[in-house]
Amino acid sequence: MIPIALEVNGRRVEHEVAARTHLADFIREQVGLTGTHLGCEHGVCGACVVLLDGQPVRSCITFAVACDGHAVTTIEGHECDPVMARLRAAFTAHHALQCGYCTPGMLATARDIVLRLPEADESRIRAELSGNLCRCTGYQGIVNAVVSVLADLRSEPDAEVAALREAARHPSAPTLGSLAVAGPSPVVRPESVRAEALAVVAEPDRVSAARHVPQAGEPGAAIVEHFDLPFAQDRVWALMSDPARVAACLPGAFLTGQSGDRVTGGVALRFGPMQAKFEGEAVLALDSGNRSARLQGRGRDRLTQSRAEGNIDWRVSPIDEGASRVSIEMRYTLQGPFAQFSRGGLVQAFVRRIVQQFAANVAAALATGTQVGPALSAAQADRGATPEASPGLNPVALLIGIAWSRLRRLFGRRD
Ligand code: FES
Ligand code: FES
Repeated sequence: MIPIALEVNGRRVEHEVAARTHLADFIREQVGLTGTHLGCEHGVCGACVVLLDGQPVRSCITFAVACDGHAVTTIEGHECDPVMARLRAAFTAHHALQCGYCTPGMLATARDIVLRLPEADESRIRAELSGNLCRCTGYQGIVNAVVSVLADLRSEPDAEVAALREAARHPSAPTLGSLAVAGPSPVVRPESVRAEALAVVAEPDRVSAARHVPQAGEPGAAIVEHFDLPFAQDRVWALMSDPARVAACLPGAFLTGQSGDRVTGGVALRFGPMQAKFEGEAVLALDSGNRSARLQGRGRDRLTQSRAEGNIDWRVSPIDEGASRVSIEMRYTLQGPFAQFSRGGLVQAFVRRIVQQFAANVAAALATGTQVGPALSAAQADRGATPEASPGLNPVALLIGIAWSRLRRLFGRRD
């Protein structure tokens, strides 16, 4: 049993919990707040969504021990919240619930939409709510309720809600989903690049600094990363401007064609029990003068019918004559079953791991002048294959690595 202390609805709570206890069980059984509902207990249905340091999280896949020192707000904690007051009234007016089982999670997600996306239209609201399932209402009433709250706030701004929106843009407390990393990002050494690549997988904080960008008013989730390489800018750009070489270094990526600025291909992902192969088309815009590029595209996973859309911008800038920095910004929206991961801390960590492996692969490719692991063919991706020569690409290893890294952080160990 592990002692933890956290704030639940503004009240300090101290308990001993088993390491495996998830936050929803802790809230319901130890704290006695049963407004948090459990549906799937797999992170799929959204019934268990609560706020952790103001950010919605799925409490069924969040360990209680990981919330030590953080603030949790459950549905019971929103009694005096001005956004929840509006949402409650709107849900009633628009018949947005029947049995009410999904409602606590729906309200938590709806509140996040109201604060984060003041201009959201109906289709955006549907996309944002796609990670919350309701077995009763058919969703129209729920969507109408959120639409009406946003419309009311646009026609008659509310100072209290405006203050909450401002606070949401600048969260003061660190969240578990935050990927802010202190300290400089060291350079990957070419002489031991294979060992470094493995070390990168073992110790994620060493190579890249990352942060999750606030999303207020912006479409989709965003991730910003960078990594440094001990190679001159031109040499790094030669690789980073070649889609085939980029795909060869990117875990799970495959290229099926290129014609002019159009690129077809995709990426195969496995995330816990879910796997998907997003295939689609993208337009690549290269700006060789500025050593920057943008890949904008969309893809669909045929099996889960999840859809992804977004863009990746990258830039190679010189640090000195023999070293460069690769800065990457990803902005994306997910719809369908995979949408549940669009804002979770876990997916941020997952993406970060992939970028770290990408960094190690690029470093290895530049050091040896060869490709690190061939790009997957579409057929290989169909079989769930991963590039053979790239170390640590097993998604199970990725998830274990993320969990291990978090546990070490939790218990204060960095080495
Ligand atoms: S119970 Fe947590 S997402 Fe379904
Ligand atoms: S109102 Fe019954 S599950 Fe949504």
